[in-house]
Amino acid sequence: MIMKLENLLAKMTLEQKLAQISQCNAVYLHVGASDDVTGPEQELSLKKEEVVAVGSTLNYSGAKEMISIQKEHLHNDPNQIPLLFMMDVIHGYRTVYPIPLALGASFDTALVEECCEMASEEMVLGGVHVTFAPMVDLVRDPRWGRCMETTGEDTYLNCEMARAMVRGFQKSGKAAACVKHFAAYGQAEAGRDYNTTDISERTLRDFYLPAYQAAIDEGAEMVMTSFNILNGIPSSGNKWLVKELLRDEWGFDKIVISDYNAFREMHIHGYCATEKDCAEKAIQATTDIEMMSACYLQQIPTLIAEGKVSEKQIDEAVLRVLRLKEKLGLLDNPYLYADEEQEMSVCLCEKHREIARRAAEKSAVLLKNENVLPFDKNKAKRIAVIGPFADKTMLGQWHCHGREEDGLGVFSAVKRMLPNAEVFFAQGCDEKINATDCEPISEAVELAKKCDDVILCVGEDTYMSGEGMSRAELRLSKAQQTLIREVVKANQNTVVVLFCGRPLVLTDIIDDIPALVLAWQPGTEGGNALANLLFGNVNFSGKLSMTFPRSEGQIPIYYNSYRTGRPFEAPYGSWYQDMPNAPLYPFGYGLSYTSFAISKPEISADTMKIGESLTVSVDVRNTGDRSGETVVQLYICDDYASLVRPVKELKAYQKIGLKPNESKKVSFEITEEMLKFWTANGKFEAEIGSFTVWISDSSNVKDGVKFSLIN
Ligand code: BGC
Repeated sequence: MIMKLENLLAKMTLEQKLAQISQCNAVYLHVGASDDVTGPEQELSLKKEEVVAVGSTLNYSGAKEMISIQKEHLHNDPNQIPLLFMMDVIHGYRTVYPIPLALGASFDTALVEECCEMASEEMVLGGVHVTFAPMVDLVRDPRWGRCMETTGEDTYLNCEMARAMVRGFQKSGKAAACVKHFAAYGQAEAGRDYNTTDISERTLRDFYLPAYQAAIDEGAEMVMTSFNILNGIPSSGNKWLVKELLRDEWGFDKIVISDYNAFREMHIHGYCATEKDCAEKAIQATTDIEMMSACYLQQIPTLIAEGKVSEKQIDEAVLRVLRLKEKLGLLDNPYLYADEEQEMSVCLCEKHREIARRAAEKSAVLLKNENVLPFDKNKAKRIAVIGPFADKTMLGQWHCHGREEDGLGVFSAVKRMLPNAEVFFAQGCDEKINATDCEPISEAVELAKKCDDVILCVGEDTYMSGEGMSRAELRLSKAQQTLIREVVKANQNTVVVLFCGRPLVLTDIIDDIPALVLAWQPGTEGGNALANLLFGNVNFSGKLSMTFPRSEGQIPIYYNSYRTGRPFEAPYGSWYQDMPNAPLYPFGYGLSYTSFAISKPEISADTMKIGESLTVSVDVRNTGDRSGETVVQLYICDDYASLVRPVKELKAYQKIGLKPNESKKVSFEITEEMLKFWTANGKFEAEIGSFTVWISDSSNVKDGVKFSLIN
């Protein structure tokens, strides 16, 4: 097979090779066939022949379009090398499941894997070969709009989710996953998308890099570089990052692709004076595919002629692309699984809806409940569903081909679930981020007064979080706050259902809210899932994947911060004069309709030898009167080390289900691997000394036990 690819390579001209490592929007490939549109010429300064010759494409509408583009392409390609089709299938293709930040909150890796497997099944029928997912950028700043695309602030959780996603996407062998954005894109300064990332090597290695590596270890076929600079150098041209770390140290020999136009942006960054410089920096870094710019196509021939780049370097990049095409089977069948009819019948099928519904149920987080929920579905006669999102299917920004009309909003879902109840709707106020007035409020208040139960749907609309959607203030709009206050005054039996793609700051309003449900952007089946949760058909089990701050002034705020020498309050302590250090809701937090008691942990030994392990266990009892699931979380702190360590770090978790009064012993094995960090020696090592261990159902821990690691 290798010979076959090398023979193919030998037949190719330099221009054809460069085309293989260039990627264009699908819309331009149509343009190649049409004389009317001049987009690619203007945007990329490419001639039509050059555009249609590219090796891969992104963004198109499904099997029908894929087949027609592939046909056109093969008609024009002298080497008959099919295009690779890529797409952002981030939280579903047509059946949209909750945003990744919500999936993180499910703490349910098997479910997340199932979601991605389902998306993969849909997308391959739609002709997609590569999904630009998982996005595993660790985030500690909720101002950043792309929080919604990550699984949150914790390294361990992100690693578990990254692996589950890669397994799910690639399980069938019919599709490839592209982990992104390499590296540390989530640390954008001030939470502004695309902004600077400046980060020490040890913080990078301890917290930010492990999830990319986990995805790669799980077999991810591609890596996408990030837009940001990392310590001064844009990722696509960062030789240390891509060549030395990713390829030489981690051994990744598959495709690296740039982000959209990121080659040319190295010029805008002020890192490359010319597009020729962009091409040179990128190829020296071993970034293979250039997405949506044409530096390689236009500049590499000169760089080769000048002896600055060798054709061998280009051949290596092209071979990596050809290898993936071969592995997926494209070289034998250019259309692979694309099938319009099957795409239509599999997308949104009942099985897929059920997975999406379950994911929405398991990722919702109950943040507050003062005897409001669950509503009694047998007693409820009159139910008000109020708010700007009361009857919208909340899909989230990267909903791919998902459509609002594919699902139900909460109002329609509750109405369908309770045909004998009277269910009413009122908009209440405008949905805009800056809405201040609340025109239809009196209608909402009157409705709340005459109903038994009130469901108030507020938060952020689909496009308020996601790429480019940073916010400086994270509060609900004035209009929504007024709506909440007035409606709750009219009827205390109110639950606020919060839709959002990031943690919001709820401090001003939280005391007015009797019950609060975090629904995130729950996807196609979100309405049905919420109806099930609010009326007690299913119990809440989600836990926060990101800290909810009290104020934007606390940001960045995350549970696993480094220890300080002055952890105490007032005066001259690490504190705020005007607010507690603690967030409003910590990482790992979430309530249930039942309660759980966790015993003090017991440890199998006081000492552990390097290379050995020990066991720590608790008894978990369901002390309420309903069945429920909780996430039992293991946190560890390295008490004294060669470099200061975090106050605690999540190292393992188990999601368990218990019936009323049932109890279960939950044990975790503590291994040397769990104790490793990037030490003062510049290596991942576990250092001898004492450690504290806690087991809890949130990152708020108490009653730790200690052990010592010894030689
Ligand atoms: C985003 C990537 C995405 C790419 C292709 C970029 O703007 O940063 O995450 O995969 O577009 O759509």
